[in-house]
Amino acid sequence: MCGIVGFTGSQPASPILLEGLKKLEYRGYDSAGIAVLDGDKINMAKTRGVIKNLCEKTHDGALLPGNAGIGHTRWATHGAPNDVNAHPHMSNDGKFAIVHNGIIENYAELKEELVAKGYKFKSETDTEVIAHLLDMYYTGDLKFAVMKTVSRLVGSFALGVLCACEHGKLFVVREKSPLILGIGVGENFFASDVTALIAHTKNVIYLEDGELAEITPDSVTVFDGAGREINKEISRVVWDIEAAEKGGYDHFMLKEIMEQPRAIKATVEPRIKNGRITFEDGGVTPEFFSGIDKIIITACGSAYYAGCVGRYVIEELCRIPVSVELASELRYRNPLVNGNTLLIVLSQSGETADTKEALRECKRLGARSIAVVNVVGSSIAKLADHTIYTWAGPEIAVATTKGYTTQVAVLDMLAVYLADIMGLITPERYSQLLTGITQLPSLAQRSIDLNTHLEYIAKRYSSCNPLFFMGRNIDYAVALEGALKLKEISYIYSETYAAGELKHGTIALIEDGTLVITLCCYEPLYEKTLSNVEEVKARGARVLAVVHEGNSKIFPLADDAIYVPKTDALLAAACEVVPLQLFAYYVAKDRGCDIDKPKNLAKSVTVE
Ligand code: AGP
Repeated sequence: MCGIVGFTGSQPASPILLEGLKKLEYRGYDSAGIAVLDGDKINMAKTRGVIKNLCEKTHDGALLPGNAGIGHTRWATHGAPNDVNAHPHMSNDGKFAIVHNGIIENYAELKEELVAKGYKFKSETDTEVIAHLLDMYYTGDLKFAVMKTVSRLVGSFALGVLCACEHGKLFVVREKSPLILGIGVGENFFASDVTALIAHTKNVIYLEDGELAEITPDSVTVFDGAGREINKEISRVVWDIEAAEKGGYDHFMLKEIMEQPRAIKATVEPRIKNGRITFEDGGVTPEFFSGIDKIIITACGSAYYAGCVGRYVIEELCRIPVSVELASELRYRNPLVNGNTLLIVLSQSGETADTKEALRECKRLGARSIAVVNVVGSSIAKLADHTIYTWAGPEIAVATTKGYTTQVAVLDMLAVYLADIMGLITPERYSQLLTGITQLPSLAQRSIDLNTHLEYIAKRYSSCNPLFFMGRNIDYAVALEGALKLKEISYIYSETYAAGELKHGTIALIEDGTLVITLCCYEPLYEKTLSNVEEVKARGARVLAVVHEGNSKIFPLADDAIYVPKTDALLAAACEVVPLQLFAYYVAKDRGCDIDKPKNLAKSVTVE
C-alpha cells in the first residue's frame, strides 16, 4: 500500500526521492508526489497515475531543486485517486508538507475543529488534518509540534514531516505502520521499506510504534513517545540492490519464481545442524511447545493457503488438532485460545494489518506465538514470541511466489521438528523426511526445468474463463494457491474445489470445454482423484492434469499435463506449486496483463 521516502543531505533531493518511489511502486499505488525545501520555500509536485508521470511533470526532479524532501505513493482510502488527494499535503501557509501511510480514524472531528479555527481544506483525505495540526502547534519547536500533533491522532501512521523553517531537517513518526531510517555519510533517509534505501545505504534503524526521529544530514536522533532520546541499534541489511532489481527478466514475478530453489535453500539449510532440525536462530526451543494441545495457523491470502498445506502436514505427523484461520475472521471471533494454544502466524511482509491484529488478539488471550515472516524487523516479527525468518530475499511482485514456498518449507520443517519432540516419529521416518526437506531446493529446480513447455500450454488455455481447480489433501491446498495466482494476475475467475466435493453442486457448472486443472500428485488418493477426473471429463471438461514426471497413464484422460518431480507425499507442495505459478504467469502474459502490478492490489495490505 502507500509508500513514503525522505532524504536530507547535500545532493539534489528530488531525483533520490523519485528513485526511491520507483522502488516502492510494487507496494501498489494510484498517485504519487514529492515536496522539496528550496531555501525558505517548500515546492511540491504531485499527480495521479504512475511515477513516470511525476518524473515528466518535474523534469526528473529538476524543477524542484533543494537538498531535503519527502515523497509518497498513495493507495487511495479516503477520497478518489486524483492530483489533489495525492500526498504530500501542505498547511495553508506552505510552512509544512507531510506524507502519511495509514489511516487517521478521528480525522472527521479534527477537521471540524480545524475548519472552525479557519483552516481551509483542499483534499478529501484523512491525512490533511495533520498538516494543519502541525501548523497550529508550531511555535518554533518542531519536535514539540510533532509530538503535540501525534497526541491528537487516533489510528495508524508512518509520518514524514518537512518544515520550511527548519533547514535540512526532517521529522518522522511511527505508529502501527512500518518506518525505517537509512543511515548514510553526510546524508540520511527514511522509507516505508528497505527497498527504497538499499541503493544508498545498508545501515538501517527499524523504528518501533510510538517512536519519532529527527533527521538531519549529519544526525539521526530517535525519541520515545514521551520525547526522551533513546539509543537504537543500527542493523545491517543482508541483501544487495540486485536482489530488488529484475536482473534481465521481463517481470519480477518470473525472476522470483526462478529464485525459489535458492530461496528455499537459504531458508532450510541453516536450520539443519548435525542431521537435526533446529529453530534456535528464532529462539525456539523444545520447551516452548510443552503442554500445547492445539495449533491455530492464521494468515491472509497466499500465506493462508500456505497454512492450509501446513495443516495437512502437521496434523498427519503430530496428531494434534490444527485449524487454519483467515486472520480477518479470527481477530473478531473471540477465538477459543489459551496458554496451551500455539498460534503460527504467516506473513511475507510482516505488516499485514489483519494478521498483525489477529496475533495481538490471540496473544492477549494467552496463546503462545511463532511468526513465519520474510521481512526482517517487520511489525509481526517483533510482536510474536518467536520469529522464524524465511530467507527469500525481497519479494517485489505483488503476486507472492517465493514468499509462499519458503513459508511452506518452514511449516514442513516445523511439523517434523514437533513430531520429533512429541515422540511421534521414528528415527527412520525422521531422517527420510529430513532428506526430503534437504532435497526441496533441487526438486523445485526440477519443477522449473520440467515445465519449459508451459508457455505453449498457457497460450492454449489463456481464454478459458471461468476455470476450475481440483485436488485432494495437499493437492487441494496447493490448488487453492494455483487459483489465486491466476485470479490476481490474469483476472480469470478460477475457483478451487476439493475433488470429492465437486459432485455436491459445482459439477453443474461443468460444460463442454470448461477447463479443469486437476492436481493428481497426492499418491494415497490418486485413484480417487482420477475418478473425479472421469466425472468432469464425461461432462465435456478439458483437463489439464498436474502429475508426477513419468506418468503417461494420465493420457488420454487428460488433454495436457504439467509435470512435477516425485517427493515424499507430505512434502509435495513446495514443488507442485511451481508449475502453477508459471502457468498463471504465462497466461497473464498472453492476456497482456500488468503482471507485477495487478489492478486494485497492493503488495502489503497495511489497512483493514
Ligand atoms: C498473494 O499473491 C497476495 N499478494 C496476497 O494474497 C498476500 O499473500 C496476502 O496479502 C498476505 O500477505 P503477507 O504474506 O505479506 O501477510
